[in-house]
Amino acid sequence: MNVIGIESSCDETSIGLVRDGQHVLASLIYSQVDEHKQFSGVVPEIASRAHVEKINFIFHSALKQANMTAGDIDLIGIVNQPGLVGSLMVGVAFAKTLSLYINKPIITVNHLIAHLYANFLLKAIPEFPYIGLVVSGGHTLLLIAKSHFEYEIAGSTLDDAVGEAYDKVAKLLGLGYPGGPVMDRIAREHTGEYVKFNPGLKSSKKNKYNFSYSGIKTAVLYHIRDNPCYDRNKVVKGFQIAAIDILLEKTKALSADTGIERIVVAGGVAANSYLREIFGNEKGMKVFLPELRYCTDNGAMVASCAYYKSQLNQSENMDFDVYSKPSGGGRSYLKSILKI
Ligand code: KG4
Ligand code: ZN
Repeated sequence: MNVIGIESSCDETSIGLVRDGQHVLASLIYSQVDEHKQFSGVVPEIASRAHVEKINFIFHSALKQANMTAGDIDLIGIVNQPGLVGSLMVGVAFAKTLSLYINKPIITVNHLIAHLYANFLLKAIPEFPYIGLVVSGGHTLLLIAKSHFEYEIAGSTLDDAVGEAYDKVAKLLGLGYPGGPVMDRIAREHTGEYVKFNPGLKSSKKNKYNFSYSGIKTAVLYHIRDNPCYDRNKVVKGFQIAAIDILLEKTKALSADTGIERIVVAGGVAANSYLREIFGNEKGMKVFLPELRYCTDNGAMVASCAYYKSQLNQSENMDFDVYSKPSGGGRSYLKSILKI
């Protein structure tokens, strides 16, 4: 089954063509980073306009890369939540039009869940149950996946997401947007001493699997305020170690408590070299990490996710909507965004 996955939830316009949920026939990602850089973050209106400008070209380029025509597509997967409403609407309008044009079904996909499916593009795919760790610019989420689309939330961030913390700290240090890749490189190249930061949230019973990243961000702010001659490399390295070590610590705790040894890491921060090193070297856990090109937002993971959803005989009417973040926050918010 040839599935097209369309991703336009934030600042990447991306289309993937994937056969049977696993074999990538084409993957095109247009990153809008250059358009947003000067604002040190994503500007929603600029993002939606850029999606409108690029999506048709990306679609035709993807078909060309896969040596396919539109008629070869069997199913359309589209992210309709969570994300920037205007950006989501561009992808959804495109997907609905395509569905009418080629007369093929459409399946909506949750962006967070789609990230997990970057690991189903690997040669050896995860079996269930597994522990999922979604680490992106918008979310830090620890869950138990019992089967496809059956999840239990174990923990999440109480404030900033880990990728968001990278981006905010990079801004404080004048390193531009997005912060993750550049800070990762600096930390990797810095071999000397580093500033020790506290990874935040104390491990109480209630917060055993929860995270907090606003504390580390503020600690960096105070450090550079109180030390005008601070060493940027030492700060970056210290931040990276504090931010990533806690992810492994909490994942290990959940693995020990549940006896689930398979760990599936996903999202933009899964591209982090230190994370890949320490998770990869951890004994007693079988860790799945997406290929680097499928860590950040991409259409291929969406196509894979839609394929597995189609196996449950789920497809949509054409009247579905887009959703940014339902109000309420915390668990109820997570539960609602995980609703599939
Ligand atoms: O998954 P993603 O593309 O978008 C969201 O769904 O949010 O993740 C983007 C985030 C950004 O915050 C970016 O700084 C971070 O992933 N990121 C990284 C790395 N590459 C991207 N963070 C740490 N190390 C990296 N190598
Ligand atoms: Zn994402």
